[in-house]
Amino acid sequence: MRILVLHGPNLNLLGTREPGTYGAETLAAIQGSLRELAGELGVEVEFFQSNSEGALVDAVQAAYGRFDGIVANPAAYTHTSIALRDALLAVAVPFVEVHLSNVHAREPFRHRSLLADAALGTVAGFGADSYRLGLRGLVAALALERG
Ligand code: DQA
Repeated sequence: MRILVLHGPNLNLLGTREPGTYGAETLAAIQGSLRELAGELGVEVEFFQSNSEGALVDAVQAAYGRFDGIVANPAAYTHTSIALRDALLAVAVPFVEVHLSNVHAREPFRHRSLLADAALGTVAGFGADSYRLGLRGLVAALALERG
């Protein structure tokens, strides 16, 4: 099973970016722990981060036929990107939406996700653990689907 982990804008700054909100773990550390977890779960993971909406759309399109599932933290594009939503619907690769922070306890503009209703599920508010929980949930759901 092959899983793509997608990170949206500004997540390359994790570790120094608003640590009170997003935690102290760097993106590299989060990815390292996801690679380790993927090993335990017996799946392969690849990572992609971009600050650009178009590059993220391209990555979703390229996932068609190459990945069985996507763990996506689209960051600010969660709240704005019809293009990313359309790409995920177009490729129909099952995905889980994850957020480090509890977006529902923050500014009202973060309460709306343009992706959540199309996701298998959403994990928010557990810091870097949101990614790990999201990966576990996605792999379990895909395994169930396959029987
Ligand atoms: C985020 C929440 C978004 O609202 C924000 O724009 C981010 C990060 C999170 O992981 O908590 O950049 O997706």
